[in-house]
Amino acid sequence: MNITAIYILFALFSLGNALSSPRCKTIPSDPTWPSNEEWNSFNKSINGVLLKTVPAASSCWSGNPFGSSLPCEVVKNNWTSGFFHSSQPESIDFPLYANNSCLPPGASGYNGSRGCNLGGLPEYIVNATSEQQIAISLKFAADHNIRVVVKGTGHDLNGRSSGAYALSIWTHNFRKLERNKAWSLPLTNRTEDVYIVGSGQQLGNVLDEATKARRVVTTGQDPSVGLGGYIQGGGHGPLSSTYGLAAHNVLQVRVVTTTGKILVANDFLNQDIFWAVRGGGGGQYGVITEYVIKNHPAPETVTMGVLKILPTETNENISWNAAASLFSAIPDLMDRGLTGAATAATGQGALSLFPDLKKSTKGIAFNQIFWAYNTTPAVMTALVNPVLSRIRSESSNLTLSVDWTAELYENYTSFFSVISGSNAAGGSALSSSRLLGRSELVDTPRNDVVSYLREALSSQNEKEGTFATIGLQGGPGMKNISNERWGSVNEVWRRTYLHFITNGASLDTSANPKQALAHAARWMAENREMMWQRWSPNGGAYMNEANPFNPHFRHDFYGLYYDDLLALKRRYDPSDSLFVLSGVGSDNWEYDLDSGRLCRVNY
Ligand SMILES: Cc1cc2nc3c(=O)[nH]c(=O)nc-3n(C[C@H](O)[C@H](O)[C@H](O)COP(=O)(O)OP(=O)(O)OC[C@H]3O[C@@H](n4cnc5c(N)ncnc54)[C@H](O)[C@@H]3O)c2cc1C
Ligand SMILES: *[C@@H]1O[C@H](CO)[C@@H](O)[C@H](O)[C@H]1NC(C)=O
Ligand SMILES: *[C@@H]1O[C@H](CO)[C@@H](O)[C@H](O)[C@H]1NC(C)=O
Ligand SMILES: *[C@@H]1O[C@H](CO)[C@@H](O)[C@H](O)[C@H]1NC(C)=O
Ligand SMILES: *[C@@H]1O[C@H](CO)[C@@H](O)[C@H](O)[C@H]1NC(C)=O
Ligand SMILES: *[C@@H]1O[C@H](CO)[C@@H](O)[C@H](O)[C@H]1NC(C)=O
Ligand SMILES: *[C@@H]1O[C@H](CO)[C@@H](O)[C@H](O)[C@H]1NC(C)=O
Ligand SMILES: *[C@@H]1O[C@H](CO)[C@@H](O)[C@H](O)[C@H]1NC(C)=O
Ligand SMILES: *[C@@H]1O[C@H](CO)[C@@H](O)[C@H](O)[C@H]1NC(C)=O
Ligand SMILES: *[C@@H]1O[C@H](CO)[C@@H](O)[C@H](O)[C@H]1NC(C)=O
Ligand SMILES: *[C@@H]1O[C@H](CO)[C@@H](O)[C@H](O)[C@H]1NC(C)=O
Repeated sequence: MNITAIYILFALFSLGNALSSPRCKTIPSDPTWPSNEEWNSFNKSINGVLLKTVPAASSCWSGNPFGSSLPCEVVKNNWTSGFFHSSQPESIDFPLYANNSCLPPGASGYNGSRGCNLGGLPEYIVNATSEQQIAISLKFAADHNIRVVVKGTGHDLNGRSSGAYALSIWTHNFRKLERNKAWSLPLTNRTEDVYIVGSGQQLGNVLDEATKARRVVTTGQDPSVGLGGYIQGGGHGPLSSTYGLAAHNVLQVRVVTTTGKILVANDFLNQDIFWAVRGGGGGQYGVITEYVIKNHPAPETVTMGVLKILPTETNENISWNAAASLFSAIPDLMDRGLTGAATAATGQGALSLFPDLKKSTKGIAFNQIFWAYNTTPAVMTALVNPVLSRIRSESSNLTLSVDWTAELYENYTSFFSVISGSNAAGGSALSSSRLLGRSELVDTPRNDVVSYLREALSSQNEKEGTFATIGLQGGPGMKNISNERWGSVNEVWRRTYLHFITNGASLDTSANPKQALAHAARWMAENREMMWQRWSPNGGAYMNEANPFNPHFRHDFYGLYYDDLLALKRRYDPSDSLFVLSGVGSDNWEYDLDSGRLCRVNY
């Protein structure tokens, strides 16, 4: 073939591409947007379950422009509750990512002169109760070049269950919750004790069912978290260092694709999409309606210990050193059965998180909680004692206060009720995440760890300071997962012990959300992502609690599997209906919160 022929072929190919895939998704002001008649007949074809989006807080604005039936007082009082947002078809926990478009007074980012509009909320919502309705809806959207979003609870920290001018599939009413003690796949002789759970459920309900039968399932730390996004992103929690991540515990899904197919996916059927939805991220490959998840024997007892390290006097360096010293001990403690979570804080902000802290210091205040199953406070104390002695010997009562207590909980329920329940929503934040293993915590020289920690807890508002949330969620539970059960979870989890979530960027959200996010993203890139690249050059991040503007998201969120996931997404979602921030292939698109437009880049 000569050059001209190649050129003509290429031109024809590009033309075909351009015709079948327009540059932007359709919005209502485009001539290609379906007519009212088309929406009506589509609505009929799905049994009338199509909703026009009504922002819940519309009743807080003059004239109630969208006719919300919820009184403003109710919306206002519930705005910081995740359960409230999950009960509403359109509402999401972190509305900044939907352009703060219709907030109740008092909400973070509220601006009385902004008014109430749909902004970054979807145009229409399918209140689905059957897979058939979802299949028809997805096909309709693909045929009309309309963006699709999927909302389970709306908990996503980066608003990935909302999108301007989109058709939203709301899975809330898929509420099945059944145990099958001897579930099996054809062709295998193995049976498994499972729960079969609709994707609209919340994991607290599944855990309640399980603990009544002295069983447990892997859940997050908060009962309000849903299955869809949590499981597809990996899903860590108090049992992940024992039984693996939530994605590792999935044996089957039912999934509807944007081509309108309803698939059962497991180890034998549709293995490729089954692999992708176990770790490859929510809202990208299709709409899951049902999960089959393993359950496990409940721990007989739970021991919980609290190690508190507070800087007391002038030598702030001692507290940073103590935190690094504790970090270096964590992998061995986890290998010996401890798990848990920690909070660290700096600046003025530390005073509210740590009431015992008398005045603001330049040190770090640290609260480490350890949990262990089927053991005793005495055994846990014996494990932690050498760490306490080392920290104490490197300090004095003048520079540091080091406190330790441990107690026993009779059963998993009484333990979980103590550690859970933040249910927090309605805030404006941008976090950055890193998964840390022995090479970062143990093998990195102490002075370097100290300086990375100082950077990780630095703040754009130096006086105010910031905080970090640290989960002991990897460790031994990761090592026991077979390749078959691993799915597409980022391989970096195999060597992860700690999950470190930092904050620190100032977000001025009451003016323009797009600009506020762009400023915060720039600060995060310079002050967090660059630091992680130095501390943890081959590491990764936990996509569900990470910075969605991380310039290295392809590597950090998906690791080795990015290219395979992208190829698979192209196969199952050829219309590219499903876009989420930092999803696979998302860098081919630009979502503009100001215009609401979702358009291809380099078109
Ligand atoms: C209070 C709170 C506590 C948390 N605690 C933990 C924790 O302990 N451990 C942890 O790992 N994470 C935790 N998270 C983070 C959590 O994993 C994410 O917020 C996750 O996105 C929640 O999933 P969801 O389905 O509930 O939320 P949604 O916002 O409904 O969905 C999140 C993403 O998944 C997609 N999605 C949802 N359902 C489906 C479906 N059925 N099919 C296809 N795509 C779907 C959405 O499109 C969106 O992209 C917590 C979050 C909050 C707000
Ligand atoms: C869809 O049809 C139902 C039943 O006729 C109706 O109540 C509902 O308002 C319709 N939805 C839209 C968006 O028109
Ligand atoms: C909302 O708040 C009210 C109190 O104002 C409370 O009674 C109600 O249960 C809450 N509703 C939801 C859905 O959380
Ligand atoms: C988002 O908010 C900004 C600032 O108020 C506004 O200019 C813009 O029109 C909004 N975007 C959408 C899609 O409504
Ligand atoms: C959604 O559908 C469920 C089940 O049919 C119904 O109970 C609920 O009222 C609907 N929600 C809205 C907002 O229409
Ligand atoms: C299942 O069990 C039968 C009878 O015991 C045996 O013949 C068969 O090989 C087994 N199949 C598998 C996949 O293990
Ligand atoms: C604390 O550490 C910093 C940086 O290593 C050093 O410059 C400073 O002198 C130390 N302060 C004290 C009181 O030791
Ligand atoms: C340090 O404080 C602890 C309790 O806070 C106390 O038991 C201990 O005796 C103190 N040590 C010294 C050397 O003062
Ligand atoms: C768990 O322990 C609490 C007390 O700590 C008790 O009230 C409860 O009944 C126990 N639950 C089960 C399932 O044993
Ligand atoms: C690893 O998993 C196997 C099979 O699920 C189980 O029998 C074994 O006890 C697990 N080992 C650990 C250390 O959890
Ligand atoms: C509120 O929004 C208006 C524009 O809609 C803007 O001019 C003003 O600066 C905003 N107020 C604050 C406090 O950001």
